[in-house]
Amino acid sequence: MVNFRLVSVCLFVPAFLSCTNSKSFNVFEFHQSNSTVRTPASLKSRIQEGLYKLNGAESGLTKFSHLSQAEFEKQYLSDLKETHFNIPAVQKKKNLSNKLPKRIDWRNKEGVSYVSPIKNQNKCGGCWAFSTTETVESMYAISHNVTPPQLSVQEVIDCSVGNNGCSGGNTCTALAWLNNSQSLLVYEEEYPLTDTSDYCKLLTKSSRGVTVTNYTCNRFVGNEDEMLYRLAHVGPLIVAVDATTWNHYLGGIIQYHCGIRLNHAVQIVGYDLTGDVPFYIVRNSWGTDFGNNGYLYIKYGENVCGIATEVSTVRVL
Ligand SMILES: *[C@@H]1O[C@H](CO)[C@@H](O)[C@H](O)[C@H]1NC(C)=O
Ligand SMILES: *[C@@H]1O[C@H](CO)[C@@H](O)[C@H](O)[C@H]1NC(C)=O
Ligand SMILES: *[C@@H]1O[C@H](CO)[C@@H](O)[C@H](O)[C@H]1NC(C)=O
Ligand SMILES: *[C@@H]1O[C@H](CO)[C@@H](O)[C@H](O)[C@H]1NC(C)=O
Repeated sequence: MVNFRLVSVCLFVPAFLSCTNSKSFNVFEFHQSNSTVRTPASLKSRIQEGLYKLNGAESGLTKFSHLSQAEFEKQYLSDLKETHFNIPAVQKKKNLSNKLPKRIDWRNKEGVSYVSPIKNQNKCGGCWAFSTTETVESMYAISHNVTPPQLSVQEVIDCSVGNNGCSGGNTCTALAWLNNSQSLLVYEEEYPLTDTSDYCKLLTKSSRGVTVTNYTCNRFVGNEDEMLYRLAHVGPLIVAVDATTWNHYLGGIIQYHCGIRLNHAVQIVGYDLTGDVPFYIVRNSWGTDFGNNGYLYIKYGENVCGIATEVSTVRVL
């Protein structure tokens, strides 16, 4: 009887929620004799409030909730392609733990922000172009000590050789194009976002913009302290991630139950080692109405969501 009730309660729960996750999900209280009535009701109200735990983070109703998992993945997670480049692992140098600040946030470094406002890729599968452009903006702001410029994501979508515009691309391939072609990445106002793939309108007469001078593309799995070192000493990073469960994310730190099947790209703008759970500060390109004003937090150190698998830095002129 008890087992039967447990099964029926689990059937109430959307398929994405693991019933084994009861440690962080205290809505389940099977020891209650009247649990058949109590649990579904309280769970239902928690879901209506939009708050329950998945991945260790707060999850619930979001702007993606009307989409099935398959629709969400098709519309928002089909945009990261594999690169044909070999992605070398970083070499473990030394014990960095004494050399790392406890907290880095490029959105507020001594009162100055080196991160542009949150962008929205809408249904264009251009995550790879967004995260790349965002990081070029930040690196320009850092190296010139100015407010981040708003650069043309659409130029990268339309012109990047080896990628497929809004049908998908790869950040390392985009960086290789920017670096090797020495293309000027112009301002957003000169080449505005249309959110569709279009022909390349490279503005040869334009003289304003940013040029990439070098970049790296590495695997940091098992060496995430090296990622922190680059975040502290270089600037924001471009990373590929598995965002399969992010459609339910409302806030908090994603800590587990996040796969490593790379299907999205984002920017890391900082980290925080001061609390019980160390985490990365991650900027998404799904608008400010996603997560925490457009941001989310991912646990540091265990390649959660595949975050250490394909990591880039970029240098600009
Ligand atoms: C179970 O809970 C419901 C609603 O709170 C209550 O009406 C009912 O009497 C309870 N049943 C038992 C057996 O305690
Ligand atoms: C690195 O250094 C810190 C502080 O000196 C020490 O606590 C830690 O155990 C070291 N880690 C390794 C892997 O040597
Ligand atoms: C580009 O970056 C790589 C890796 O950091 C470095 O080895 C190389 O010297 C750099 N090239 C230039 C031209 O700065
Ligand atoms: C980037 O381009 C410069 C030349 O402009 C070249 O020296 C460097 O090797 C390139 N970086 C990479 C990682 O290919």
